Amino acid sequence: MVLISKEINEIMNAQIMKELGSAYIYLGISTWAEEKSLHNMAKWFNAQAKEEYTHAERFVNYIIETGGHVEYQTIDGVKTDFESVEDCIKATIEHEEYITGEIKKILEKAMELKEYEAIEMLQWFIKEQIEEEAQSNELMTTYILFRKNDALWDQHLHRDEE
Ligand SMILES: [Fe+2]
Ligand SMILES: [Fe+2]
Repeated sequence: MVLISKEINEIMNAQIMKELGSAYIYLGISTWAEEKSLHNMAKWFNAQAKEEYTHAERFVNYIIETGGHVEYQTIDGVKTDFESVEDCIKATIEHEEYITGEIKKILEKAMELKEYEAIEMLQWFIKEQIEEEAQSNELMTTYILFRKNDALWDQHLHRDEE
């Protein structure tokens, strides 16, 4: 039995593109950081890019499991030039806020359709976005704590293995 509606299938296909798009954005930031010899920052964003890939996979798996059809949409190019570390962090915070909004839109649609399977699946993403937003805000907090000294902040920056 097909458990996914056409509407949710469509919106989730778009979300796959957005999660892979997130990976691409963070790969861009990672590349910028590497070029600036901010190695920990580069590593941090590279790990984040990989995590975004796993988010896309969750949607892919869900669509297949519920009898839908996956379509891969075009992903736009991303920036590899930024003004500053602060510019990169701001872009990250803004992007995660945008993604949270997109997840909520899918959830609202699922609720409207009383699509309980999707509602259940999306709970994970609601929780995950709390973490993603906290994590990106934490980048800014520590950056300010280090008085926006790129080298010192980069030395301090680390990430717990997920
Ligand atoms: Fe994500
Ligand atoms: Fe994210």
